[in-house]
Amino acid sequence: MPKVTMIHHVNVAISDRQRTREWYEKVLGAEFLDRGAARNERQLQLRIGSGEMHFTETPEPMRVPAVHFAVEVDNWEATLAHLDALGVPYSHGGARRTEPTSDGEDARYGQREDTEQYYTYIHDPDGNMIELVYHPLGLEDATGNPVQVGHNAPGLRWRQLPDAMSNV
Ligand SMILES: [Fe+2]
Repeated sequence: MPKVTMIHHVNVAISDRQRTREWYEKVLGAEFLDRGAARNERQLQLRIGSGEMHFTETPEPMRVPAVHFAVEVDNWEATLAHLDALGVPYSHGGARRTEPTSDGEDARYGQREDTEQYYTYIHDPDGNMIELVYHPLGLEDATGNPVQVGHNAPGLRWRQLPDAMSNV
């Protein structure tokens, strides 16, 4: 059986391409992928880390409770400081609040016992929920060898034929 090598992209419904592009660039360091005028008109495509997010404009994006996607970050404290500096609310329950819960637990983020993974949730301008995660113990393969996460080189993109951009 052939193997899936990676998740190539996730497509999310949005209502305003420019607003979405600016928010993902600012909050998640996304990089705009210029696919040429025709495709840019159909979709907004951004690179986030080593993966891609595609966004399709629709007048009223449907919000489905608990549906979300997650991105891994490389530094937890720096991530929270970045969100604080931008004024982006985050919470471990996915609610749009940052105040402590009634039991005094820190509502801003959580940590899972098995992997020591940190996690919290934010929302894009259309209300799409995004989980931010950080695994301090890293990745390993079936034999326990450490594995590096995917490449995040500046300008990383799928190659296109040289004349593709001028033909669209
Ligand atoms: Fe999740």
